[in-house]
Amino acid sequence: NQLEMELEAIEKGGYEHFMLKEIFEQPRSIADCLRGRLDAKNGRLVLGGLRDYMNKFQNADRIIITACGTSWHAGLVAEYLFEEFARIPVEVEYASEFRYRNPVVNEKDFVIAISQSGETADTLAAIELAKSKGATIFGVCNVVGSSIARATHAGSYTHAGPEIGVASTKAFTAQISVLTMMALMLGYQRGTLTESKYVQLLNELEKIPSKVEETLQMNPHIEEISAEYKDARNFLYLGRGYNFPVALEGALKLKEISYIHAEGYPAAEMKHGPIALIDEEMPVVFIATKDNSYEKVVSNIQEVKARKGKIIAVVTEGDTTVKSMADHVLEIPDTAEAFVPLLSVIPLQILSYHIAVMRGCNVDQPRNLAKSVTVE
Ligand code: AGP
Repeated sequence: NQLEMELEAIEKGGYEHFMLKEIFEQPRSIADCLRGRLDAKNGRLVLGGLRDYMNKFQNADRIIITACGTSWHAGLVAEYLFEEFARIPVEVEYASEFRYRNPVVNEKDFVIAISQSGETADTLAAIELAKSKGATIFGVCNVVGSSIARATHAGSYTHAGPEIGVASTKAFTAQISVLTMMALMLGYQRGTLTESKYVQLLNELEKIPSKVEETLQMNPHIEEISAEYKDARNFLYLGRGYNFPVALEGALKLKEISYIHAEGYPAAEMKHGPIALIDEEMPVVFIATKDNSYEKVVSNIQEVKARKGKIIAVVTEGDTTVKSMADHVLEIPDTAEAFVPLLSVIPLQILSYHIAVMRGCNVDQPRNLAKSVTVE
């Protein structure tokens, strides 16, 4: 009825969909996540939830991360973060596989369960299993007081605020923000991250909300590009290093809301199969920011170009090399390599949003999907 429609319009805060509102909330949701925890000026970082478990975390033989869907992608980013900064081996497990595999887990393992809703049945079951084997379980949840938040020994909330759109956006960047803080704290405590590097990273992390804001300015440009690709039948997303999980996330966003078949791959794997798919009909989204693997990604772009694939590239501001090769470039501000996913995922969220809207899809409630999967 009329009243309900008006109420919903108010809840959407002037945006046409919850998903778009949530994408645009990210400068604030990330700032909310960092608030009271990160104090770059004084070189301090404190996650209250971790305090009592820091010893266990620091001395863990192994970190096991378990989650589903987008939260699992955040876990993959964390694998790079923990290994780079804290030098502890990490395994990232789909909760649904982990729980049925008779995994080797013991008291020296530190298990991190990531879940926006805190109600995902498979993740909850994975936690119970790891707990029964004596591991310490730490939750990274968005919904306060949720089942997963209650089942874990300790945890840190993401503080992204309610996420209504079925496609997760602001919860993902908040999850990565918490995991980044955990990795920095751990690295500093273990001495694998020097004081000067630590302080430098804290200062850079503090700038992320305003850099996300800057990234969002690309919205009209991405909308134009979306019009060109809305009828594509397939999409490929490629990235390396920290941007490999971003490629997976970009592909998941597109498939769940636009129903276009999309695959994410580590760019180097292209030559082991997916390159066979490339022709003039195939749009390929590259995440080609200036980092350790930049040169390698550039040669992957050349390979796609030689086969007439259409190239949309997310690049670092000021990049000219990729610009000369790609059909479209989306420029994001420069930041520390480890923080790039927080920026590079934004244009991919926006791209999938516009394509889905142009195809007439219900972006907030895509077919066959529920916001939280409470059945196995
Ligand atoms: C994300 O866009 C999906 N709708 C889905 O993959 C989701 O991330 C997954 O079901 C996990 O949910 P959770 O974070 O609430 O546990």
